[in-house]
Amino acid sequence: MLVGGQGRRLRPLTDTRPKPMMQLVDRPFVAHQIDLLRRHGVDDVIFSCGYRPDALRDHFGDGAAAGVRLRYVVDPEPLGTAGAVRNAEDLLDDAPFLVLNGDILTDLDLTAFAAEHRATGAQGTIALTPVDDPSAFGLVRLHDDGTVEAFVEKPTPADLRPGEPYRINAGTYLLDPAVLDLIPRGVSCSIEREVFPVLAERGTLHGHPSDAYWRDIGTPASYLAANHDVLAGALRTESPTGGAYLGAGAHVDPSATVDDRSCLGDGAVLAAGASVRGSVVGAGARIGVDVTLDGAIVGAGATVGRGARLGPGVIVGDDARIAPGTVVDPSTPVPTGAGA
Ligand code: GTP
Repeated sequence: MLVGGQGRRLRPLTDTRPKPMMQLVDRPFVAHQIDLLRRHGVDDVIFSCGYRPDALRDHFGDGAAAGVRLRYVVDPEPLGTAGAVRNAEDLLDDAPFLVLNGDILTDLDLTAFAAEHRATGAQGTIALTPVDDPSAFGLVRLHDDGTVEAFVEKPTPADLRPGEPYRINAGTYLLDPAVLDLIPRGVSCSIEREVFPVLAERGTLHGHPSDAYWRDIGTPASYLAANHDVLAGALRTESPTGGAYLGAGAHVDPSATVDDRSCLGDGAVLAAGASVRGSVVGAGARIGVDVTLDGAIVGAGATVGRGARLGPGVIVGDDARIAPGTVVDPSTPVPTGAGA
């Protein structure tokens, strides 16, 4: 599992924690992926870490509480998505292995995925997810037999063929050990840009289209949407569903309101008259009297002062303090980092 990126798009929350440790409802994001793996009989997991590995180690340890054997490797310097796979080589055995991006929420049927990898004999299989508009992604074009014909990065309308399905790399791969030989040791290398094109050229990269739930949690909007989806039961999950999530010891004043798309972390406090809509409030955060949160993300231990109004896309860093009466909506510049 690739869990070593810097998560720049989720700053300032990722200033204090790696993206895979962002809370998603009742557990760190990456715990949802471990749940998925376990459901499909995968019980041996390697975290390929880089940025802030200790947060992962402190929480997951040897994986016993999560029901898997968990081991760690750490990039000596950022190795990119392929270098981080090669860095785990010594812990892999001589069999095909799964690679999961550590920021994708999905309930992909890994059992069917693995069966297809075995059946085609390809050296690599990539899960593909449909999108309406591929222009911000890399389109993956398949031959009729399912092998990858081409990667078309950020396609313009002129690059697209009439009627072709728009499918993008879903960030889940099955690779044969031979693929490791294509990755240089100890230097940065991208699996998407440097390894897959070589496999595709050789005709040994297979695409596995899937309509399974899929979301990249790497931006504030998609992170909030992922919280909503888990709460709404839009994918198979071990988290509580069916309404707002209130963590252990969270306290909501009787005159405060929390809608069914919001999450409050353990020990979070909502004071009188506060209103929380479509937002995530971190553990131990204190939301003051008459505060309105609408599509906002408030970090753990943060304080939002009386009467503040924080609109869509606002991120308050861990332990930050927002002064009473502050109004931030999408038209005003945001970030309110830790200590701000
Ligand atoms: P942004 O900075 O917001 O783009 O996020 P990111 O770099 O953390 O994520 P990106 O979507 O680029 O990477 C996909 C996955 O690979 C994420 O789960 C990252 O944690 C992981 N990843 C990216 N680069 C590295 C790396 O150099 N080393 C390791 N170990 N993991 C990486």
